[in-house]
Amino acid sequence: MWTFLQRTAGEGFLAAREDGRLLGYAIFVPSLRAIQRRAFFSGEAFKWALHAVSGRYDLRPGRLLRGLQNKVFFLFQGQRFRTRGDAQLLNIAVDPDVQGRGIAKRLVDAGLSAMRALNVPEVRLEVRPSNRSAIALYRKTGWREVGRTRDLEGEWIVMVTTP
Ligand SMILES: CC(C)(COP(=O)(O)OP(=O)(O)OC[C@H]1O[C@@H](n2cnc3c(N)ncnc32)[C@H](O)[C@@H]1OP(=O)(O)O)[C@@H](O)C(=O)NCCC(=O)NCCS
Repeated sequence: MWTFLQRTAGEGFLAAREDGRLLGYAIFVPSLRAIQRRAFFSGEAFKWALHAVSGRYDLRPGRLLRGLQNKVFFLFQGQRFRTRGDAQLLNIAVDPDVQGRGIAKRLVDAGLSAMRALNVPEVRLEVRPSNRSAIALYRKTGWREVGRTRDLEGEWIVMVTTP
């Protein structure tokens, strides 16, 4: 999935490196639906599904089913927050050894400037209400809460920003 995203997300797939060491990453996509369509029509999604049921991702059948239910539930719940376009910050993380050094802030700024260059009007993300450091990061980088959604595991805060 990462290789696929790296190929398709292009400028929005960001890595922070120091002396060749990976310190963090962020994945911004200008259109989630375009990525989903590409995954489907290229056969990649089918390959992932096959790997998942054949046990290659080490997911127990119960966990797999729960994951699928979660995704469907989440998709329906989240629809009402779709605003301008469907750009998304899919994921961001920084190595715990180097957190607090401004790396995530630089990744978010770089991702937003990549989205701006692609004329993306708005970017969306979801974050768990318990994830205080991520929420603080998003507030600091200009995101605002527009609502809440949920999946079977609990609530998500929906945030958006203009790149
Ligand atoms: C969230 C995360 C990416 C932040 O990475 P980071 O490189 O430590 O963040 P930065 O140093 O760039 O911090 C930027 C701002 O975010 C806020 N922030 C970051 N970590 C914080 C913390 N632990 N407590 C409070 N605020 C925090 C601060 O406002 C900070 O600015 P400041 O230092 O000038 O006050 C990191 O904690 C992480 O990888 N978490 C696990 C993965 C995750 O939860 N990803 C988000 C999924 S939605």
